[in-house]
Amino acid sequence: MSSYQHAEVLEVVKLLKDRFAQLANKADILKAPELRALYAQLSQLPADQRGSFGKEINALREELQALVDAHADEAEALPPIDVTAPFDSNTPVDKRPHLLPSETGTKHPLMSELETVLDIFYRAGFNAVESPEIDDDYHMFSALNFPAGHPARDDYDTFMTEQTDANGNQLIAPAHTSTMQNRVLQQYKPNLENGEPIAVIIPGRVFRNEDLDARHEHTFYQLEGVYVGKGVHAGNLIATLKTFLSEYYQKELDVKTQPFYFPFTEPSFEFALSCPFCDKKGCNVCSYSGWIELLGCGMIHPNVLHEAGIDPEVYTGFAWGGGIERLVMMKYGIEDIRHFESGKLDFLRQFV
Ligand code: DAH
Repeated sequence: MSSYQHAEVLEVVKLLKDRFAQLANKADILKAPELRALYAQLSQLPADQRGSFGKEINALREELQALVDAHADEAEALPPIDVTAPFDSNTPVDKRPHLLPSETGTKHPLMSELETVLDIFYRAGFNAVESPEIDDDYHMFSALNFPAGHPARDDYDTFMTEQTDANGNQLIAPAHTSTMQNRVLQQYKPNLENGEPIAVIIPGRVFRNEDLDARHEHTFYQLEGVYVGKGVHAGNLIATLKTFLSEYYQKELDVKTQPFYFPFTEPSFEFALSCPFCDKKGCNVCSYSGWIELLGCGMIHPNVLHEAGIDPEVYTGFAWGGGIERLVMMKYGIEDIRHFESGKLDFLRQFV
């Protein structure tokens, strides 16, 4: 930066720099009347002072021009891109960046299997809604009849963020797709008033902080189902799941339920199907039991219906939720769940 000797110039330097900070259109500083007045002053000066005074006015003009240029560069610069940031899958489809076309890539096997699953349910009249990848305590627990401090909250090995919601609760990477139950019940409630059932499936990515092995991943997919109407009972639940599984595996399978506990269903069941590999004879896929436990399900708890503004005295419903990988592993005899997220081409190419 130039140092100015002439008091008149120095005064204008300070004045114009302050003004520059305030100006909306920065280039206007070059037209400042004070700058023009300095040039006018130049012609009045004794000849021996004109040289140094003139140099200082020019230096000031250059300095202002540099400020204007630097500001323009800054305004044009693109914001830096954080290449490590995960893609925000909660962004609506039409707002997502367009991905580069790929001639060589193929669909991930989980996604093509999910399309098959969705297709079966679409044909049965279900709608599909995706679950978000960051959620709050209310949807993960409270709306599902887990009050604060409920011991069953600990069963979900939930990843928490440091960021909190408006109630001061930590935001959550959802550990199940049941986080969507309250939302779909509210959204589709008008169906009931029109004499139609609520029939929704919810595929989604979920996260659990658990030890990894051939059957457990920290990141996996679930398929949730919610069905509510008048006179809906557990027989409808079992028939729906049995029909779906027979359709998905393209063979008749036996199913069985055993009692279980979930805070958001009453009664709650663990749902198992006869091993599609050995037809109940016993093999290493079913640990020689003939049965494979597939998912959790039950009749939606009256408190969950009530919380969504649905009268449990009038309407009843069932829900289920289970891992999609498990379903696909059984279809193709995949022995380790970790293959799905591994990005191993040897694995992926088998599904092309
Ligand atoms: N959300 C449960 C889990 O991930 C599974 C589940 C059980 C979902 C019962 C349901 C249900 O909708 O009714 O462990």
